[in-house]
Amino acid sequence: MKTRLSLFIHSEIETKTQIKMMKYLSVSILTIFLLASCSQGDMSDADTQANTEQEAVEMGPEITQATAVLSPTDGNQAAGVVTFTQTDEGVRVEATVSGLDTEARHGFHIHQYGDCRAPDGTSAGGHFNPEGVEHGAPTADIRHVGDLGNLPTNAQGTAEVDFVDTHVQLNGPNSVLGRGVIVHAGTDDFESQPTGAAGSRLACGVIGVANPDIVVE
Ligand code: CU
Ligand code: ZN
Repeated sequence: MKTRLSLFIHSEIETKTQIKMMKYLSVSILTIFLLASCSQGDMSDADTQANTEQEAVEMGPEITQATAVLSPTDGNQAAGVVTFTQTDEGVRVEATVSGLDTEARHGFHIHQYGDCRAPDGTSAGGHFNPEGVEHGAPTADIRHVGDLGNLPTNAQGTAEVDFVDTHVQLNGPNSVLGRGVIVHAGTDDFESQPTGAAGSRLACGVIGVANPDIVVE
């Protein structure tokens, strides 16, 4: 009798546990099914975003504008702003630089390093020349990528230039991003190697990605 009762109790407990488990299982399966069908749309959005991000990592985000603020080197007053904007014809270079000699022509280049730490600007290195060719005029077919010519100044010692260059790039191996901009004391003669004999460095700036929300007059 004792054994029977215990068997009965035991089997009743087993049945209750089985029912609980069955309920739990069916709720779980239903939940998984619902979650899967609900998140189907989100999943494909996430996939698309992941692919775009992957491409951006592989290709790098395309840069359309860059800028450099030029600060005077030790003992000089030259200062200004340069912007580089991608156009269909090439990169548009706009520069306003003040504190220069009046009615003069100052050498204006992109240098290899975006490094203005040295008081005389020499930390910017030589002209940016990723193709390893000779120095030249901005209009020359063969020239350093950084050879932007001279800045002509007015009677107040200010230069304003606006031109499109076909050697300067904002993307790819010839990208000027992170390089330096130098304004020289002398005039680039477009012939002397490797610098155009433009003399000492009056101002230095680093080319960085421009903030598209900033509009500077
Ligand atoms: Cu230079
Ligand atoms: Zn050069």
